[in-house]
Amino acid sequence: MNAPDPVTLMKQEVGKAAASLVKSNSIVGLGTGSTTAYAIQYIGERLQCGEVQNIVGVPTSFQAEVLSKQYGIPLTTLDAINHIDIAIDGADEVDPQKNLIKGGGAAHTREKVVDYLANQFVVVVDAGKLVKKLGSVFAVPVEVIPMAVTPVMNAIKELGGKPELRMGVKKAGPVVTDQGNLVVDVRFDDIPDPVNLEKVLNNIPGVLENGIFVNCADVILIGKVKDGKPVVREM
Ligand code: A5P
Repeated sequence: MNAPDPVTLMKQEVGKAAASLVKSNSIVGLGTGSTTAYAIQYIGERLQCGEVQNIVGVPTSFQAEVLSKQYGIPLTTLDAINHIDIAIDGADEVDPQKNLIKGGGAAHTREKVVDYLANQFVVVVDAGKLVKKLGSVFAVPVEVIPMAVTPVMNAIKELGGKPELRMGVKKAGPVVTDQGNLVVDVRFDDIPDPVNLEKVLNNIPGVLENGIFVNCADVILIGKVKDGKPVVREM
């Protein structure tokens, strides 16, 4: 088998660093995406070898649920618990105030529920996700109930955004979320006030949730490939 490429190695190291923060007897929010997938793998491995005990996970997506089962992490639901100790999740953009854009995997609604409930929210990213201002590179994902897509897109245009319905890859038609809704990716020329934009977007009737996460991240772990080797630092 070929050795993993440097980017994969870097994602593995970031995932490992996050997984090492999980303590015995804790409830863990399990995020979505390729970097968090490694955190889920390492949490499972730590459980299986007895390094930590009594961990229970809350998955943020179908992907997280499948991976957690694959790596032997027992799962629970929000109906059965009253807190989350730590959540580990990826992001698509991170600004200097630790505000995030999430939803590249169309999982931001469940991610927001779980990540906001956690006493400690750990974000795992590569250095390419760091931006001076949110929206510089990534569009803002907005989950919309299917019957409201047209009025929501019109309302977003009124706000100055450029909405685009996210289309499936290897699937005809639009992306459908784990909740059976659609995703509209919105480009803004400038997002001067992410705190306000998060609220304004969620106020449009038919919008379930958007991918702006403000004032919630506690720890940002950043991976980088330096001289062909993975390095992880905290923001
Ligand atoms: C999922 O909806 C997103 O919020 C992910 O957390 C994000 O896309 C990060 O994915 P990668 O770790 O694969 O970049």
